[in-house]
Amino acid sequence: MSAPKPLIAGNWKMNGVSASIAEAKAVAAGLGATPARVAICPPAILIHRLAEALAGGPVLVGGQDHHWDDSGAFTGDVSAEMLADAGASLVILGHSERRAGYRETDEIVASKVKAALRAGLEPIVCVGETLEQRKAGEALAVVTGQVRGSLPADLAGKAFSVAYEPVWAIGTGLTPTTPEIEEVHRAIRATLVELFGEAGKATPILYGGSVKPGNAAEILHADEVGGALVGGASLKADDFLGIIRAL
Ligand code: 13P
Repeated sequence: MSAPKPLIAGNWKMNGVSASIAEAKAVAAGLGATPARVAICPPAILIHRLAEALAGGPVLVGGQDHHWDDSGAFTGDVSAEMLADAGASLVILGHSERRAGYRETDEIVASKVKAALRAGLEPIVCVGETLEQRKAGEALAVVTGQVRGSLPADLAGKAFSVAYEPVWAIGTGLTPTTPEIEEVHRAIRATLVELFGEAGKATPILYGGSVKPGNAAEILHADEVGGALVGGASLKADDFLGIIRAL
């Protein structure tokens, strides 16, 4: 199996309105030749319009979350099929903001991953420790536990990635040192190989948490880093392009 391309995905979180479509178009227009796959994950309500605006271009569109069931009486929710139907090809699942703010457990995340696969979406499954857990020396155990609990066996043979996002690095301007990132990514790699054998060697492991144009080159070239999941800096085309060009 040839190594998949690095993936750089922008997570707009709960930011963006119609006018933000221009920013996504500017990313597509400015991208040029890149070794990366590039995706933008806007709020669900913008997926359809973004997918239309970016159709035929190099930038993929993704969702940020969906329900674990395929349809039914779940007021306010969207399904994986709806995201795919709107034009998404990937989806972020298990983000720490969902785990912490909506009490999503590993079990729930794994159910959502299965739903994503049923709809043909490529999951980006997020894991990461809190500052308290890191200070207590538990980072590797927490992260590898999340990987084991959040990745169902159904992923065997499917395209997916894991994003390591230390909770304390998200939106704070703080980042782990490169050796700290590499230590966690190597532990994730070992767990992926344990779970999926040879295929686990190729799964991209993204880093996320305060990735900016200024630190992207060092992070993206670290051992076992197969791309980035970018929050704040993906909202401005120039910043996001600066990160992609650091690859
Ligand atoms: P920031 O890049 O804003 O720190 O957010 C990272 C993140 O949570 C991406 O999913």
